[in-house]
Amino acid sequence: MPAHDVLIIGAGLAGQRAALAAADAGATVAIMSKVHPVRSHSVAAAGGINAAINPADDWRSHAFDTVKGSDYLGDQDAIEVMTSEAPNEILHLEHIGVTFHRNETGHLDLRAFGGASMKRTAYVADITGQAILHVLYEQLMKYSDRVDRYEEWFNTSLIRGDNGRCQGVVARNIRTGEMQTFVAKTVILATGGVGQAWKPTTNGLICTGDGMSLAYRLGARLMDMEMIQYHPTTMTANGFLITEGARGEGAHLRNADGERFMVHSAPNKMELASRDVVSRAEQKEINEGRGTGPLKDSVLLDVTVVPKHRILEALREIVNLGRDFAGIDITREPIPVRPGQHYTMGGVKTDVDGETDIPGLYAAGEVACVSVHGGNRLGANSLLDTLIFGRRSGEHAAKVAASIPMPTVSDAQLRDDQKEIAAIIARPKTGRRVSEIKDELGTSMNQYCAVFRDEEGMTKGKEIVTRLREEAKDAYIDDQGTVFNQDVLGALELGFMLDCADACVTAALERKESRGAHSRTDFTERDDENWLFHLTVEQDGDGEAKLAQAPVTITQWQPMERTY
Ligand code: FUM
Repeated sequence: MPAHDVLIIGAGLAGQRAALAAADAGATVAIMSKVHPVRSHSVAAAGGINAAINPADDWRSHAFDTVKGSDYLGDQDAIEVMTSEAPNEILHLEHIGVTFHRNETGHLDLRAFGGASMKRTAYVADITGQAILHVLYEQLMKYSDRVDRYEEWFNTSLIRGDNGRCQGVVARNIRTGEMQTFVAKTVILATGGVGQAWKPTTNGLICTGDGMSLAYRLGARLMDMEMIQYHPTTMTANGFLITEGARGEGAHLRNADGERFMVHSAPNKMELASRDVVSRAEQKEINEGRGTGPLKDSVLLDVTVVPKHRILEALREIVNLGRDFAGIDITREPIPVRPGQHYTMGGVKTDVDGETDIPGLYAAGEVACVSVHGGNRLGANSLLDTLIFGRRSGEHAAKVAASIPMPTVSDAQLRDDQKEIAAIIARPKTGRRVSEIKDELGTSMNQYCAVFRDEEGMTKGKEIVTRLREEAKDAYIDDQGTVFNQDVLGALELGFMLDCADACVTAALERKESRGAHSRTDFTERDDENWLFHLTVEQDGDGEAKLAQAPVTITQWQPMERTY
């Protein structure tokens, strides 16, 4: 059985940063991913990464903006860690080869982003995630003596020993169908979010909540699961992301009357208010009949007001997206956009070192909830979150691993997982297809757990998720083979997404106020007196979602009235 000090599941920015940190600390490391690492969803992160590196800026200002953006649900101790460590992390990335954009004086350039009180977003055109991901992957190569890579392996279970510690995983080699037990002193989940439980979403097909669900099934708490971010500018045609960097560079949002409607919701910040605010403003325009397009379901993002040389220099990827997927030259005409599911603020509850409720099990990046984003994440804080807490998890896990022996693990879980997969393959073709169930899940979540929510809609959403969980048990698949059997993996992923969707809708029904991305038309106000706490979700003995409260850590910023 392969055995490692630190085993990391997921090879996006959080996973790779954790691997590098653990290897730097001298641990033997393995990084396992269901796709080739540079195809991880971090590759899609576009606009940049926040850090107070301008001499006129201060990390405390970044921290306050993040607290305010979170609608006071973010834990301020964790936010202070993330924002105070941000400048050094950017410098580290620069030193290892990330080609951040520089200005005419040769200094790192910074662009404006939503909810920030000054320009503090470092960027590589509009492909920042891709640029960082490739550099980290190159860096991993230099540790080939101590970092093993299991590329295209799918994690089916986490293993918990009699002492309560997480001691390894079971995984399936996607290329061959072979399954194996992997032993580890510590396991770090870095598997990303669960955007695929919504349709449309900006998230890649791989974002199916695997780590959240596996940790939940093992007994860990999920937190802030009701907080789902809708990004204000996704392409109406297909849900693809048009980076907030466009508005950072000065692009305008207009309704069907040509009006810059943000003047009504955020007269100071306008298009650069935080994402929850902009998405609500857009949805209001659409709901009240001022949308554009044949279905009046869009607003217009006007990038033509940005100088053309700057568009071609700093926003070239969205020029390609506009041309290839909407037939629009965004340097000459506005592009229809609308709010679309983008990010899961919630996830596996961790502390600032990535430790979860289960000893030996860590989580970092979108799979985790530290909680630095609270009710709403600021744009360009997610790359930062992946890197800061990826590094901290890798360091902590390596330190713990150095102090404990390698566990002895049996193949019992492997045999259970093999039986489960054999049973999936052998299902009679009487149920619904996995793809149909996934489609209904996505469209329902997008209807009932979206920008605006209410009791009636969420109750319907909960009923649908409950029914789909039953239907998923006999959903049938076509492929009965072993080589690249994506059908089997799709059935497992469907189970993961349904766990997360159920946790989301259960928590959302519970929270009877409007905070951050959770905006209820039946409880329109933020209610600090009764609701200033996190909701956690854990599985009860019957596999149902059980809710509890966890305190919000306030260090220096008491909730203030909203101003934009
Ligand atoms: O709009 C964007 O470029 C997305 C950035 C983010 O989600 O942080």
